[in-house]
Parts: sequence; structure tokens; C-alpha cells
Amino acid sequence: MKEIVKVGLLGLGTVGGGVYKIIRNHQEELCHRIGSGIEIKKILIKNEDKKREVDSRLLTKNSDDVLADPDIDIVIEVMGGIEESKRYILEALRQKKHVITANKDLMALYGSELHAFALENGCDLFYEASVGGGIPIIRSLVDGLASDRINKLVGIVNGTTNFILTKMTKEGADYNSVLKEAQRLGFAESDPSGDVEGLDAARKMVILSQLGFHMRFNLSDVYVEGITKIKPEDIDYAAQLGYTIKLVGIAQRDQGEVEISVQPALLPNEHPLASVNNEYNAVYIYGDAIGETMFYGPGAGQFPTATSVVSDLVAVARNMHLGINGQHTVLPHYETHLKKEETIFSKFFLRFHVKDQAGAFSQITALFAENGISLEKLIQEPIGIEGLAEVVIITHRTNRASYTRLISQLNDLDIVDCLEASYRVEGE
Ligand code: HSE
Repeated sequence: MKEIVKVGLLGLGTVGGGVYKIIRNHQEELCHRIGSGIEIKKILIKNEDKKREVDSRLLTKNSDDVLADPDIDIVIEVMGGIEESKRYILEALRQKKHVITANKDLMALYGSELHAFALENGCDLFYEASVGGGIPIIRSLVDGLASDRINKLVGIVNGTTNFILTKMTKEGADYNSVLKEAQRLGFAESDPSGDVEGLDAARKMVILSQLGFHMRFNLSDVYVEGITKIKPEDIDYAAQLGYTIKLVGIAQRDQGEVEISVQPALLPNEHPLASVNNEYNAVYIYGDAIGETMFYGPGAGQFPTATSVVSDLVAVARNMHLGINGQHTVLPHYETHLKKEETIFSKFFLRFHVKDQAGAFSQITALFAENGISLEKLIQEPIGIEGLAEVVIITHRTNRASYTRLISQLNDLDIVDCLEASYRVEGE
């Protein structure tokens, strides 16, 4: 058994700095849990001029100092990006080094390929920090819930959008002003598109869905809508009707077929996910045996994310001592079957402006009836524009194909002035 497990770090940004500090400050606990010491031997950096609280002898700009050093057992990739990190991870695995990554973009795009290559080389590839920062959700799916059959995962897996929506809900502010404030406070990036358009959440849902349903999914399998079009009026009407709007990822399996989506959705106020606020994340799981369970915590940040990375380090080091690395197979083993629009069911929230004239409503209800969609809740109010009224409807459960047809037919009606908003209703 090795007395000291040697680690190479690729990247020393926010998360890398956190990993360095946890390994240094928690050395005693880590030794007890692993049965040996842990030492960071080299750290690959890009910018030499940056001031760092790290022993400068550990730093290098040459990736070979990490990847080709036979003394290094485990490589931790915390540099982000896709192509370069993928190249480094493949090289580390080729050199029979175990790999830990926090890179959700990479794992969502190339997870299956990297897993296969890790197995081929007898190496571990762990990525707990890639989803839900400090929430041990991957380990919970792989180990904690290994005995169950998971039918559905609903996740608030993007902190930036949850922060923005929480502020919009609590302060009644509009999207653009809250986004600016979030950028000022450092909760949103200067280019926030990956977060606010739903792509970041979609990548995380690909990872969770693969682990939950044991099938292989691509990003293109995910239906994605972001939060940029949400208006304070939508949030107000949702509140009047007893709901909170959240950006949720939904992955659901029925009779062997799966749907994955990321979109703003109305959650009943009493649903546990409705009170997950600010930058926090949560994943709500429905299993055959467990029933319903929720995992909650910080979705990002230096130490939460670094905690997950170092927990992977403990797992890999323990596997090294037991001689069982590379046997931890989580490769998908079912053929992928995706649902069609006709078999994706939910309720919907719909807000539109209609000409306030006799017979208008009968034309609207006729279209709902024609498409077999029943109304559950209805509000009609004047909106202060001469001759127009605002209509808000929550439907009963229907399939997405009928709903999409209804929307297009409503848009074609002369008496419908403008379709303002349409969201899924979830969690009932
Ligand atoms: N941009 C991500 C978020 C960070 O807002 O949740 C963690 O992946």
C-alpha cells in the first residue's frame, strides 16, 4: 500500500484553489479516511503572473510535468473547457492515472467515451462535482439508490437562474434588472447565455439521466428553454394560482421510454422544490422503492465544489488501496428509447391577450375541446388596453403534441391578439 498518494492538479482557479486548501487543511481527516497521506505533487497553471497562496515549486506550465510523471497516481482536472481538458484526461488515462473531473460540459458531451477509455486502462474516472456542486448527487444515484429503480428526476440544477428567479419572485423586479444585479454580485457571468438559456442545466440533466436510467443520452435529446422571456406578470399570476416558477430539469421514464427537458415550470408552492431559493440547487427523485426523496445544497462555489472533488479523491485512493480501480462500471446498459411528443404528458400554464368581444371565449374553448384539452383554472382580467383582456389558463394533463397544435391554432385566431407566455406545470 502506498504511504502517500500523489496527485496532479490541472488548473488552479476557484475550484482548484479550493481543492488545494482542503487537501492541505484537512490532511489529518483525509489520512484517517484513506489510510494514507495525500500530496499534491504538481499543478498545471496557465498564467504565471497571477498571485497565489501556493508553494511556487508545485506550479508548472508544462502539462507533461503532470501527465508524464510516473509518480503521480491521480489527476484532477479543474481547468474547465472542453477540447484541451479532454486531451489531457485521455492522456492521463493512457498513462494509467485515475482521473477526477468537475467538468460537466465535458462529461455531458464525452462521458461515455471517457468512461470506456478509463475502463480499458483499468482506471477510475469520477465526476461528483459536475452536477450540483456540493451535493453528493452522483454518488447517491450510483451507490445510495443502487437498489432502486428510478422513474423520475426533477432538478433545480443551475444556481444562476435560480438566483435570478428568486429575486424576480421576491422583489417583483423584471428579468433584465435582476440579471444586471446578479452580474454585479458575481452570481451571473458577464456572458450569462449558457446559464439563462438552459444549456448548463441541460448538460447536467444529461449526466443525471444517464445515471438514473442507465441509457446513453445526447444534449440534442433534451428539450431546452431558458428563463429570458419570463415576465413579472407570469410570476404574479402563478402566485395567484398557488405556484412558483422555477427553471427545472425533468427526466422521466415510463415503460422504458424517457423524456428529458429543461424549462421554466410552475411548481405548486407546497412542493419542496418550490422553496429551493437563491443560488441553491436540489434534485428531487422518484423511485419505485424509495418513493420521493430530495437532495439539496449549494450548486457551486469554491469549497462546496472542491468538497465533492476531494470526496472523489478519497474514493479513488481507497480503491487504489483495495486494488479495485477501474471496476466501478456505470456504463449505460439499456438501449436508449426517447418518448415522442404524443407520450409526454403534463399540465400547462398559458397567458394570452384576447379581443374583449362577444363570442371570443367560445372560439377559444372550441379549440381546447377540439384538441381534447380540458381547462382546470381560468382567470380573465382587463389589462388597461382598450378592447383587450388578458386570459390565463391552467390546463388539465395533456400530451405535448396536442398542446403544441392548440398553441398554433390559437395564434391563428383573429380574436387572439398575442400569446404572451406558455409554461409546463410540474410536481402535482
Ligand atoms: N453556472 C453554474 C450555475 C455553475 O449557475 O449553477 C455550476 O455549474
